[in-house]
Amino acid sequence: MNIAIPGQPSPVQGLAPVAKPTRGQISIKNVTKIYDPEGVNVMAVDDCSMEIAAGEVCMIVGPSGCGKTTLLNAIAGFHSITSGEIRLDGELLCGPGKPKADQGADRIVVFQHGALFPWKTLAENVAYGPMVQGKLSKKDALEKAHFKLAEAGLGDFGGKYPGEVSSGMARRAEIVRALINDPAVLLLDEPYRAMDALTKSIMHESLLEVYDRTKVTIFFITHDLDEAIFLGDKVYVVTTRPCRLKKTVEVKLPRPRNFEMLSSEEFRVLVSEINEAVHEEAIKAFQSGEREMA
Ligand SMILES: Nc1ncnc2c1ncn2[C@@H]1O[C@H](COP(=O)(O)OP(=O)(O)O)[C@@H](O)[C@H]1O
Ligand SMILES: [Mg+2]
Repeated sequence: MNIAIPGQPSPVQGLAPVAKPTRGQISIKNVTKIYDPEGVNVMAVDDCSMEIAAGEVCMIVGPSGCGKTTLLNAIAGFHSITSGEIRLDGELLCGPGKPKADQGADRIVVFQHGALFPWKTLAENVAYGPMVQGKLSKKDALEKAHFKLAEAGLGDFGGKYPGEVSSGMARRAEIVRALINDPAVLLLDEPYRAMDALTKSIMHESLLEVYDRTKVTIFFITHDLDEAIFLGDKVYVVTTRPCRLKKTVEVKLPRPRNFEMLSSEEFRVLVSEINEAVHEEAIKAFQSGEREMA
């Protein structure tokens, strides 16, 4: 099986680097989101701007309840924005005259609590998208699903149901399902939040392996600073609600990443730099009585 073991070289280290990515560039310009302006009037995002390069692993870090999920949902097309604009590869997703983005296979969301159909096997789950969209026949979709699962080290588990495999394997299968349509952007909202440290580290290696293979743009929300630095090209620290960009920190650790980097001096310097910015915002959130989100 193709599982990377923490501390061991990644299985992708021998692969040739992928050509420079040309899609998945996200431009967020002056975005504001006010929920229920006529009623409770909650300003979740205020004049927020970010430029995310094609193929970037973009990590969003900020206090609970500050508006991170709101931003992700706007990119995904789950809800509208109040003003500003969001573009993907120059195409307007939402903006003036178009408050809500269309949902599309170019942007796939991996949910916090998992979303595999429990009554379908892992392979049937992965094959589901291309089948219902009529892109592939059932036979071809299943064949492709088994191939993609094998690439992700799940070759022996395609015939298992989500309840029959570990939560880590189920999460990995979700990433495979998300990537089967070759999206430009993967949107992840604290996907590993509830995991123990060891499972999380295996998830990280597995996501990095997928990234090194596909160079898909990753928009990843997290509370975990080590996770943000270990995975990311850039860490975007956002303010307490309403969400704005506070600080962008570039992570220059080379790829492929490995677990030895977690104890490097460079890594610790980044943790302390980001921690300072996050801590300032956490104090503001605490002082303003912002409630923790579930
Ligand atoms: N549908 C909604 N209606 C009103 N307020 C909402 C809604 N969804 C989220 N909020 C509020 O918007 C703020 C930002 O929420 P969210 O984007 O989920 O934060 P985060 O993901 O950073 O924890 C919170 O104060 C939350 O209570
Ligand atoms: Mg959230």
